[in-house]
Amino acid sequence: MKLFEIAQFLKPEELDEALRADVSAGLTSQPKTLPPKWFYDDRGSELFTEITRLEEYYPTRRERAILAARAGEIASATGARTLVELGAGSGEKTRLLLDALGASLEAYVPVDVSGEYLRDAAEKIAAEYPALAVRPVAADYERHLSRIPGGPRKLVAFLGGTIGNMVPQERHGFLSAIRATLGPDDALLLGADLVKDEKRLVRAYDDERGVTAEFNRNVLRVINARLGADFVPEAFEHVAVWDPDDEWIEMRLRSRGRQEVRVEALDLTVRFADAEEMRTEISAKFRPERLEAELDAAGYTLAGFWTDPDGDFSLTLARPQKDHDSEEMSPGRLTVG
Ligand code: AVJ
Repeated sequence: MKLFEIAQFLKPEELDEALRADVSAGLTSQPKTLPPKWFYDDRGSELFTEITRLEEYYPTRRERAILAARAGEIASATGARTLVELGAGSGEKTRLLLDALGASLEAYVPVDVSGEYLRDAAEKIAAEYPALAVRPVAADYERHLSRIPGGPRKLVAFLGGTIGNMVPQERHGFLSAIRATLGPDDALLLGADLVKDEKRLVRAYDDERGVTAEFNRNVLRVINARLGADFVPEAFEHVAVWDPDDEWIEMRLRSRGRQEVRVEALDLTVRFADAEEMRTEISAKFRPERLEAELDAAGYTLAGFWTDPDGDFSLTLARPQKDHDSEEMSPGRLTVG
């Protein structure tokens, strides 16, 4: 039985092209950088799932607790008929939302770059929720937002704190781009990690068992496999530091000794000095006032803001700001609750 068709917005050639462009730019810049989205091949996605189960990594557990407590409120506030989930991953937290949204929900649209993972997660959900139309989209949500299918009373969920992978200017662009896809009855549900004690933050990104270190080095394996590079992952040390000015965690890979790496598909040879550090991810942490200000600047008003009891993580429900001119011209719209 075929439960759904995956909409492929990402052709394999395009993915390769994007990877080549990112790696080429990142390895030739000073300091060197690599963007975090390339962590997530199958192994990287599995390692991330393993991270979410670590004692040190609190965000997933905290977000799940907030969802468990607030899904009902979110459901009644939005009356969502379509749930679009950006960066759907393994979809564990999704079920809490799906259950709460209940019979009013008609469609679930998980969006992810990782095709395999998306298929598995979507198949499970389609089997568990037979009345739901499951329409997975394999896409780069940063590039394909406007093409993602919607429908009336849409709730766009961007969970997990992935917004933290973006610098402020990118966040503004991304939140504004989501805003542009929302009608007056639609909403955004945003998960964001909060600023807290530095020790806990660093521990969450530098766990005892070294799972995060493996996850970090996995980006080198991805580049080896897809671009014919000869990185020796073990020749790079995992580093996680808190940047108090930008209020983000930075993950880096630090070269153990001097080395030269060849990237065949780019016809590129890269030199690393001893102890040279390459940035592989930022994970920004927020203060509630900042979240509200950034959402306001991108055209939203807050319809809900919740944290777990310890104040570790946050979920925000945001709606499009009403455009006063058009309200005056079409008062019929104002009846919406
Ligand atoms: C998936 C981006 C939310 O930033 O906490 C986990 C990725 N990196 N451990 C995060 C991650 C290292 C994670 N996000």
